[in-house]
Amino acid sequence: MDLSFSPSPPEAPRYDSGLKAWILSRYADVHAALREPTFCQVSARGPSTGPVDPIALSQMHAELQADIDRMSTEVWRERMVNIAHTLMNQAADRMSVNIVDHVIQPWSTAVMLSLSGADHALEARLSSIADLLFHKRENDETSLIEKEPRPAFVKKWFKWRRKNAEADLDRMRGSGQITISKSMFFGVSQTLPSFLAKAWLALLLHPDQLEMLRTEPHWMPYAVEELLRYAGIVHTLYRQATKDVVLGDAHIAKDERIILKLESANRDPIKFDSPDRLDITRRPTGNLGLGVGPYACAGGVIVRKALSLVTPAFLAAHPILDEGAPILWTGDTSIRRPVAVSVRFWKQSVEVRDHPHIGKLGL
Ligand code: HEM
Repeated sequence: MDLSFSPSPPEAPRYDSGLKAWILSRYADVHAALREPTFCQVSARGPSTGPVDPIALSQMHAELQADIDRMSTEVWRERMVNIAHTLMNQAADRMSVNIVDHVIQPWSTAVMLSLSGADHALEARLSSIADLLFHKRENDETSLIEKEPRPAFVKKWFKWRRKNAEADLDRMRGSGQITISKSMFFGVSQTLPSFLAKAWLALLLHPDQLEMLRTEPHWMPYAVEELLRYAGIVHTLYRQATKDVVLGDAHIAKDERIILKLESANRDPIKFDSPDRLDITRRPTGNLGLGVGPYACAGGVIVRKALSLVTPAFLAAHPILDEGAPILWTGDTSIRRPVAVSVRFWKQSVEVRDHPHIGKLGL
């Protein structure tokens, strides 16, 4: 079984006059475009975001790197695993549980709180910001859950709350009340849990692969790369040419926009044998799940580490998909992720001490 939304098959580059953009979807084309130094990042709809301030960019990378260094220690390894086991044990006591709401999101919030250094008084405030931002995509115009557009005032209200939440986060960071970088806050509160949800769902839909990973954990490094390829959450990226460029068959003129179909490229049969098959023993040959080139994911180390540390705690409880409950999705012009994945467990995970940041989440 595939992951609900199969990407469209890769095809030769073409200029879409309706969208006024080039569409690239073959692995070789998308790979080359991501590495093209004269392409700049733009949003899906809007105009060019303009040149990025190099000082702000290097500060962002330095702050993020400090968090990555902290999270690369043994203490952090243990902390991430303990939080996962505690949550898994609580979830395993229930008949059927939506792992996105009851395991994955609380895990990422607990990790974020622990990393932030927030004192007790700030924790609730910070958790509610993370919660609001994690759920923001469910309220987006392009939400896959809400087929009907929501009334304008609801959208405006959510937008206003998100703006306030971000401003509050900036205040806490600015006053030194919390120490987490903004990129890590967003990464750990939104992108990372979204990917964990889609990666675990991919395993649940392939019980043979799930079982192999549980009983033969030495496949984990390959499984992580395969899950980034098969179940990456970023389906599309957007660029604009700052110069005329010839990219394979595409003659792209200055100022033209380029739509990069990452998900299709990760399923290109010229690059990957039987690309629609999830195979955790597949030899990694360079997937595009975290991007590549000048804007490649700066949190990649943590994404790989988190998936490989937390997945064994999940598998240890012998999860099976609850087929009686629907799988719900949400998404936008760049990301697609599941918001409800119901699971039954056969066993407890393993014994661990409760982590201080879990009790406070009211679980
Ligand atoms: C700890 C979690 C994460 C952090 C801190 C993080 C951080 C970042 C940052 C800072 C960038 C921008 C780099 C730049 O423009 O110089 C980036 C890009 C990117 N991230 Fe992540 N990320 C995280 C998780 C993820 C996950 C889970 C995925 C998908 C599975 C992902 C996919 C991407 C992709 C595809 C890009 C490239 C965007 C582009 O080329 O336009 N990230 N990430």
